[in-house]
Amino acid sequence: MTHKTKVAVLISGRGSNMEALVVAAKAADCPFEIALVLANKPDAGGLATAAAEGIEALCVDQKPFGKDREAHERALDAALRERGIQVIALAGYMRILTPFLVDAWEGRMLNIHPSLLPAYPGLDTHARAIAAGEAEAGCTVHLVTAGVDEGPILGQARVPILPGDDEHALAARVLEQEHKLYAATLATFVTERL
Ligand code: GRF
Repeated sequence: MTHKTKVAVLISGRGSNMEALVVAAKAADCPFEIALVLANKPDAGGLATAAAEGIEALCVDQKPFGKDREAHERALDAALRERGIQVIALAGYMRILTPFLVDAWEGRMLNIHPSLLPAYPGLDTHARAIAAGEAEAGCTVHLVTAGVDEGPILGQARVPILPGDDEHALAARVLEQEHKLYAATLATFVTERL
């Protein structure tokens, strides 16, 4: 395959989903490459993981921008465009986006969320699903739109909630599926929908 879609992964933390995408992208027939890993905080653990994989790992620290989230996003956007990035994959990017970045990348920005959306958007999804007595949990890859965790769903994976599960046990079971789902859904997206 000669032309692989250039994907940037945006992270804020450990970056295990990012790592799963990097591993998937190594396959010769994978239709995307991870061209950049971008963090909003210098202590995001995933930056070192990406660098060790030989991928450009860049931090555009949000701190100097203070409360001006759009100014920070304009700096992110410039870094993405300078590198010819075609698709953004949010993977544990823990900052709510302004309309600036959402509009600039409309139809080309994906997110992964650890629940079966539209159920349990936002934080603490696993604890809330257990407290509600749900029998099932899972994860969702969706396009990013203005509402948090609200865009069109591209793919989902389901896992059971087992007796005795706490949020950590459930999060680990879901995370395993996240890693498979994100790579598979991103591959289908860049092949069929871009
Ligand atoms: C994942 O559960 C993801 O779904 C959520 O934040 C977590 C990030 O984990 N948005 P990691 O940084 O990919 O390991």
